[in-house]
Amino acid sequence: MNAWMEDLRRQFEQDLAQAAGLDQLKSVRDKWLAREGGIITGEMKRLRDLPKEERPAFGQAMNQLREFAEVRLEEVRTAVQKAEQQKSRKQIDVTRPGFPFACGAQHPIKQLQAEIAEIFVSLGFKVFDLPEVEKDYYNFEALNMPRNHPARDAQDTFYFDDSLLLRTHCSTVQVHAMESMKPPIRAVSLGKVYRRDPFDATHSPMFNQVDVLVVDQGITMGDLKGMLEVFLKKVFHTELRMRLRPGFFPFVEPGAEVDISCIFCRGTGCRICKQSGWIEILGAGMVHPKVLRMSGVDDSRYSGFAWGMGIDRVAILKYGVNDIRLFFENDLRFLSQF
Ligand code: DAH
Repeated sequence: MNAWMEDLRRQFEQDLAQAAGLDQLKSVRDKWLAREGGIITGEMKRLRDLPKEERPAFGQAMNQLREFAEVRLEEVRTAVQKAEQQKSRKQIDVTRPGFPFACGAQHPIKQLQAEIAEIFVSLGFKVFDLPEVEKDYYNFEALNMPRNHPARDAQDTFYFDDSLLLRTHCSTVQVHAMESMKPPIRAVSLGKVYRRDPFDATHSPMFNQVDVLVVDQGITMGDLKGMLEVFLKKVFHTELRMRLRPGFFPFVEPGAEVDISCIFCRGTGCRICKQSGWIEILGAGMVHPKVLRMSGVDDSRYSGFAWGMGIDRVAILKYGVNDIRLFFENDLRFLSQF
């Protein structure tokens, strides 16, 4: 290789040494080997101007130089690539704490529902999962509220047609349970109910209830009271007193409204219980003989009790929430506290 070629080679090596990164390597390749305008390609073109006898040696030398350049470029490219890979690997700091991400949880009403259902399962009750779109018969008729009964007014609901509606209470479990089981019956159902109520701090057109039915021989009001006492203490996780006041519900006789001693002031009187010391919590009673008979239970042999309660109302009291809408508006700042 003559001095002129040696010079070219040295220049090429210098360019290579200065190239930092794959992009610059590509520029070096273009500068030296591009078909149009590459230095080595350009030199090759001089072949034509040389005397015949010099051409073979020149051609051979230039080919060597081109092959040399190709090999060196490839060597350096592999090395640079490796170095870049290692550099990017070093940039991962394995000691850095991870990014926290939000984890979903059960809605507080669902949690309370599960807790209540669990109590009944442990007492040997059958849990009924019943339709929210219900026949008039199960919601009213079979519960001793025939068409035009004034008690229907208090539970004005959403109708699909004459006989199909959104259930207004979970008391439908009484009819469904007696139709599908023979006494002794221990049945409970939990779920959404609907009423044509305004949406404000204490009302919602959709809310949640639990309704309970026990039918057997010799069931009395004493059984009802005993069960309520145990249940309410379990739900509120606190000692509380309970009282029954006479109340009217067409499907029970006698019927009662049940109060608990105020869980905020322990019965001494506060704003929440309107200074009375008591909070109304549920409706209850002995299943009306007509209701037993209509669903095929012999009322001369069997008696039963039933009671129903608003789950959202329990949640409001249990967690000290002052607006029922908070449970239905899906504000995560509120919901994530549970
Ligand atoms: N279903 C009634 C309501 O939604 C509550 C109720 C009262 C349920 C008395 C009962 C009962 O089981 O015995 O207002």
